Amino acid sequence: MEEEIMDKRSSKSISRRDFGKKSAFASFAVAAVHQTKAMPANVDTVRIGILGCGKRSSRNLTQMLAGNDNVKLIALADVFQDHLDWYRKTFENHKDASLRSKVDIQDDHCFVGWDAYKKILETDIDVLFETCTPYVRPKHVEAAVEAKKHLFVEKPIAVDPVGVRRFIKAVKKHKSLGLSLVAGTQSRHDKSYIETMAKIHDGAIGDVVAMRSYNCRGLPWCVERDPKWSDLEYRLRNWYNYCWCCGDSIVEQAIHTIDRCNWIKGGPPESVFASGGRAWKPRTEMYGDTWDNFSCDYEYPDGTPLAFFGRHWTGCAMAGGLDAIGTKGRSNGQDMAEWDGDATMQQHQDLVNSIRGSGPRFHEGVRVAESTLTAIMGRMSAYTGKRLTWEEAMNSDLSIIPEKLDFNLKYPVGPIPEPEVVPKKPLEYR
Ligand SMILES: NC(=O)c1ccc[n+]([C@@H]2O[C@H](COP(=O)([O-])OP(=O)(O)OC[C@H]3O[C@@H](n4cnc5c(N)ncnc54)[C@H](O)[C@@H]3O)[C@@H](O)[C@H]2O)c1
Repeated sequence: MEEEIMDKRSSKSISRRDFGKKSAFASFAVAAVHQTKAMPANVDTVRIGILGCGKRSSRNLTQMLAGNDNVKLIALADVFQDHLDWYRKTFENHKDASLRSKVDIQDDHCFVGWDAYKKILETDIDVLFETCTPYVRPKHVEAAVEAKKHLFVEKPIAVDPVGVRRFIKAVKKHKSLGLSLVAGTQSRHDKSYIETMAKIHDGAIGDVVAMRSYNCRGLPWCVERDPKWSDLEYRLRNWYNYCWCCGDSIVEQAIHTIDRCNWIKGGPPESVFASGGRAWKPRTEMYGDTWDNFSCDYEYPDGTPLAFFGRHWTGCAMAGGLDAIGTKGRSNGQDMAEWDGDATMQQHQDLVNSIRGSGPRFHEGVRVAESTLTAIMGRMSAYTGKRLTWEEAMNSDLSIIPEKLDFNLKYPVGPIPEPEVVPKKPLEYR
């Protein structure tokens, strides 16, 4: 989810005047990987294909079309016909005429079903938006690399270590081909974050010796089952509630704030010790097999701890964002610069400029994979009750996606993960 509930307390202990007087957005280009030019695609018009015609994708596309000239939506793909139809109608009938003029979808550029991803990659699109549910992203990105398409990929990029490694292998090749990739961790394109992070790295709050990060919200959303739907159709339509589809809330949602903590430290943590559980969510199919709270004690290679906790407890206090505690002050990661732009629009402007070679080259593949794995290792530690190192997580053979996805098969829910707490002898009751 894009909206973060920032904890503004973190900016109070240090005055804005104390921070460097560097020009407002001088550090913006620093976020780009290299200044090298991307492979020139169709530089006149950047042709867009959407794989995963969902809600977030529609926001991405709106900002892409509103924020750029000479871009065109020409192809759509989804596993469900009704999702594709909704999406097509939304953009073909868009109330903004200027957006409508950037939509030109022909029937033979619309693809539905499990192999829709292959078909959209055979079209003449320049850039693919891989905006599906997270479980399938590594497979789709792998195919997009073979088809040599520029990429926008939503976060998280996988739900397990096997998927993360598959994604990393693919995006390294993608980068070597000179293609561009922007990921759905949009704070990386938010100028208030970019400049604040640069100031933190320049020592504005001294050495960052500890961090806190929260993702405490109510329950996000559930879909009631239509009796006509098979198990698998229901899993995919109610995907937020099944671990193999979304990776659980720490992966699906908290990745934004975890990514910003990795940004501060310049890379992922070395280890994690975590716990959590399912305190209140009803144990029904609709609420799935995910937990409703996680607490993770991460440690970065320089010894800096990150205390993360996230929960989906409707009716309780909400909190979000981060708090970086330095030897000279503290920051929430965006409190040393003002910016009233739209980070989602900015990320799509950056992508188009990267593709055209008219701006810095962006390739965010490995970085978003590292942030995804940071979240996954927190979940793995919590689910098992064991301390876990980065190496163990990265090399783990854990794969949680069903081997076969077939609408005719059964996909029972759960079991809800329980830490491997095995009493040495039967518990005694007095
Ligand atoms: N960056 C952000 O702030 C932000 C905000 C919301 C969601 N997201 C991310 O965007 C992604 C999509 O979320 P959403 O809310 O749009 O969900 P959604 O359910 O609205 O959209 C996902 C789409 O993918 C399709 N899909 C699933 N499996 C497919 C397959 N195998 N082949 C083709 N299509 C398939 C679904 O039918 C659906 O239309 C998630 O990864 C989510 O975490 C990011």
